Amino acid sequence: MLNFELQNPVKIHFGEGQIAQLRKEVPRDANVLMLYGGGSIKRNGVYEQVKEALGNRNVIEFGGIPANPEYSKLLEALEVIKSENIDFLLAVGGGSVIDGTKFLASAALFKGDTPWDILEKRRPTKVGMPFGTVLTLPATGSEMNSGAVISRKETGQKLGMGGPGLFPKFSILDPTVIRSIPQRQIANGITDAFTHVLEQYMTYPVGADLQDRIAESILNSLIETGPKVLADQTDYKAAANFMWCCTMALNGLIQKGVPSDWAIHAMGHELTALYGIDHARTLAIIAPRHYQHYIDIKEEKLAQYAERVWNITEGSSREKAEKAIEKTEAFFQSLDIPTHLSDYTDQYAGTAEKVRTALEDRGWVALGERQNVKPDDVQVIVEKSY
Ligand code: NZQ
Ligand code: ZN
Repeated sequence: MLNFELQNPVKIHFGEGQIAQLRKEVPRDANVLMLYGGGSIKRNGVYEQVKEALGNRNVIEFGGIPANPEYSKLLEALEVIKSENIDFLLAVGGGSVIDGTKFLASAALFKGDTPWDILEKRRPTKVGMPFGTVLTLPATGSEMNSGAVISRKETGQKLGMGGPGLFPKFSILDPTVIRSIPQRQIANGITDAFTHVLEQYMTYPVGADLQDRIAESILNSLIETGPKVLADQTDYKAAANFMWCCTMALNGLIQKGVPSDWAIHAMGHELTALYGIDHARTLAIIAPRHYQHYIDIKEEKLAQYAERVWNITEGSSREKAEKAIEKTEAFFQSLDIPTHLSDYTDQYAGTAEKVRTALEDRGWVALGERQNVKPDDVQVIVEKSY
């Protein structure tokens, strides 16, 4: 096992009715900016629950944060934070609203020239404005980690940021919010969480037995519970398991003491920047080809995954690895997630070069757990994903 440091200060309130906990978690004398997305919270009862719990606190609302949170929209919210002396942020939404809020938590206290530097110059945020979250869409794990991804249409960029100052003070996870989520977004959530585990697991063995077993348990649970949530969104047991799987997949725990890959996400973000494809779907497009491309060096973990997650016990280690990749792609497809770029756009010619160039321009020329995902590899993987 590799050496590691672990600190995750996020307080979780999990369960039905827990939105009421805002009453005790949001400071009484705070000037609160409540951030939300396109309005789903106004149609599913979440908004009313939040407002009731906040009582007579001083709250200003800022809605309209789009999926793949957009920099220019967030700058409007930053203006409000400054002009209204806001000192506490409350995100009510999915990964996009929470990530947008993390950007604002950082930008509000940022001392440099332009807040875009936080992303472009990869400045880690040591201290941010305090914020809490009410999660409405299980998927990203953003509710219990300190990372965010922000898009900028003007320049066609989608960049990550983070730092120890960007953990939420608290996050409220009420599984009943799942009832109103469109099926497509539930499938996205399952796929995103599944791939988060793979990015931290599908590398090479380092004797981290517990991390492996926890990762495999999350995968097994997602395979079991995902279809149940899709079949019946009012199934509380399935919803609760799905929600906790998504959080556990990216709260830092399974990444400790092990190498991690994250090249699938790096390539995937470029597909979202180019075509606006939902984040999770970009992962389903890239992951199968990425694992095929690196089957030699990932074979041991792929075979272990084949045995422990997919119950593939016959054949050589190589055959098991091959079957595991097929099973993974079939799983995404079973959720109604198409796994080729051409399923999403007719304009895919030249995409591989564009992704290659975007990553190269950023200096990302050695991705993956062994830093061996080079520009040539990126080009081949994306081309094979057409
Ligand atoms: O905007 P509203 O109207 O709320 O509708 C949203 C949105 O259209 C809707 N939705 C959310 N909760 C709902 C609901 N509709 C009905 N009922 C509910 N309860 O779902 C749509 C998608 O929401 P979004 O927040 O964009 O989805 P997701 O949670 O998948 O977030 C995706 C973003 O997170 C980033 C992605 O790159 C992408 O920008 N990620 C963040 C990560 C992190 N911070 O750790 C890691 C991930 O790998 C990922 O990169
Ligand atoms: Zn993801």
